Amino acid sequence: MSRQQLAKLDQLSTGQTLKFNYRQNGVPREGFLVRLKDTWVAYENRCRHIAISLDSDNGEFFTQDGKYLFCQTHGAVYEPDTGLCVHGPCKGANLFSIPLEIGESGVWIDME
Ligand code: FES
Repeated sequence: MSRQQLAKLDQLSTGQTLKFNYRQNGVPREGFLVRLKDTWVAYENRCRHIAISLDSDNGEFFTQDGKYLFCQTHGAVYEPDTGLCVHGPCKGANLFSIPLEIGESGVWIDME
């Protein structure tokens, strides 16, 4: 297992996101890091309705009002802090959360 730094603490402002690649059980995956007001979260970039990326590859994860994460294909809407789908075809499902380590040096994940 190895660690990968995703961002420095001052790298993103509230509401900004950053895509990254990682491995889970040796399988390459794409995730995205989200800077929230008081914390950071990360999720796999995969809708829970159909296994395709949320952002259609353009790096836009937030709804226009900045309140929710959303899937550009069929409009599923997710709570940013929990990843819970609150509207759309996969209502009640959760985005796959990626555990983070947050320290003075930045935001990190463990690679498997
Ligand atoms: S593929 Fe995301 S809502 Fe349908």
